Amino acid sequence: MSTLKINSDRLWNSLMEMAKIGGTEKGGCKRLALTDLDKQGRELYIKWAEEAGCTVKVDAIGNIMCTRPGEDMSLAPVGTGSHLDTQPTGGKFDGVFGVLAGLEVVRSLNDQNIKTKHPVEISVWTNEEGSRFAPAMMGSGVVSGRFGLQEILDTTDVDGLRLGDELERIGFAGETPVTGRKFHAFFETHIEQGPYLEAENKQIGVVTGGQGQRWYNATLVGRESHAGTTPMHLRCDALLASTQLIQKVEQIAKAHAPGCGTVGFMQVVPNSRNTIPGKIEMSIDLRHPLDEQLTSMDKALSDAIAEIEAATGVAIQLDPFWYYEPIHFDQNCVNAVRKAASDLGYSHMDIIAGAGHDACYVSDFAPTSMIFTPCLNGISHNEIESTTQEECEAGCSVLLNAIVTMAEQVNEAETAELAAAK
Ligand code: GLV
Ligand code: MN
Ligand code: MN
Repeated sequence: MSTLKINSDRLWNSLMEMAKIGGTEKGGCKRLALTDLDKQGRELYIKWAEEAGCTVKVDAIGNIMCTRPGEDMSLAPVGTGSHLDTQPTGGKFDGVFGVLAGLEVVRSLNDQNIKTKHPVEISVWTNEEGSRFAPAMMGSGVVSGRFGLQEILDTTDVDGLRLGDELERIGFAGETPVTGRKFHAFFETHIEQGPYLEAENKQIGVVTGGQGQRWYNATLVGRESHAGTTPMHLRCDALLASTQLIQKVEQIAKAHAPGCGTVGFMQVVPNSRNTIPGKIEMSIDLRHPLDEQLTSMDKALSDAIAEIEAATGVAIQLDPFWYYEPIHFDQNCVNAVRKAASDLGYSHMDIIAGAGHDACYVSDFAPTSMIFTPCLNGISHNEIESTTQEECEAGCSVLLNAIVTMAEQVNEAETAELAAAK
């Protein structure tokens, strides 16, 4: 039974220190991927990791890997980590907690003079949020092979800036190859970002999997014309058609409960108050824990688009540029999290992740699971996102114990595989 504890004050102080970089007036954080603020956050984190005795590497997509040596460096590391980038109106904890919880684990292992057989490696994954550059989870997606490195480096933001150029500009286009990463096990700690732990009064969510997602870009093309001289029956208003589409997205999600549907991004052309909008670019985000339901939502969206086109005369083009299926985490890793929570005496429940997480892509190539902690009123992707020091302490202590358990286990088949690969 492993009941090690972390240093709660130190974890909390580090979270508050990191939150100053891009801190907003409303108490949140705006640290978009590959901006100067992201660079500052990364540099502070690397400084802390080096002070904790880690070796630091950066790969070609800008993922940072900080390693605390194990007794047997031929063994694959036990990994943890998350992301330092935030939403435009983000909070202080989404992603950052998972990174700094990893750092606190290393610091606590150092304090308590604990040696592990496997090395422990903390990852900061590039552009998890998918806000400035879409899709999300790019760094872990490239490492897992879901995305090609070049295709991701060539992605542009809304101002046409190329991700690869931004990575170079902030000094994080690293030399370590994105291929060949291995973990003996991987755990990501994260605030839940939803209401269930709070509602059930549980301290820890044992995450058994993540729901599937489909992301689309929709382009609606109508006809620009004069707001004062074009009679209502002669208009082809792309913005008006987009409102029908937004309503349909909501209806589709509600008809597929507990599915979710969101339109969060929109650009109106020409965006002039006395010209009827001729073109709309908008995002659509559909999610569901069951793949067949997600497929049914996708079909319902195509049907809705055909109906709106016929009714309005606005042409709608749908680009389904990102999909990933519901993820099931590794049973051993899930059990390690559940056992650590029980051993430490924390109340816990099994839960499915509603948000996308790097752990979902890591689970393609390594045994993986996640640890959730509650967040106030289930609100995240908002500057008011809030959690307590005690809640963070609980999640990080579970992480420490799950990592120590796994970092002691030597799997003979895996060892033989690594030796053969040399
Ligand atoms: C990432 O934060 C997501 O959209 O789930
Ligand atoms: Mn996150
Ligand atoms: Mn997020």
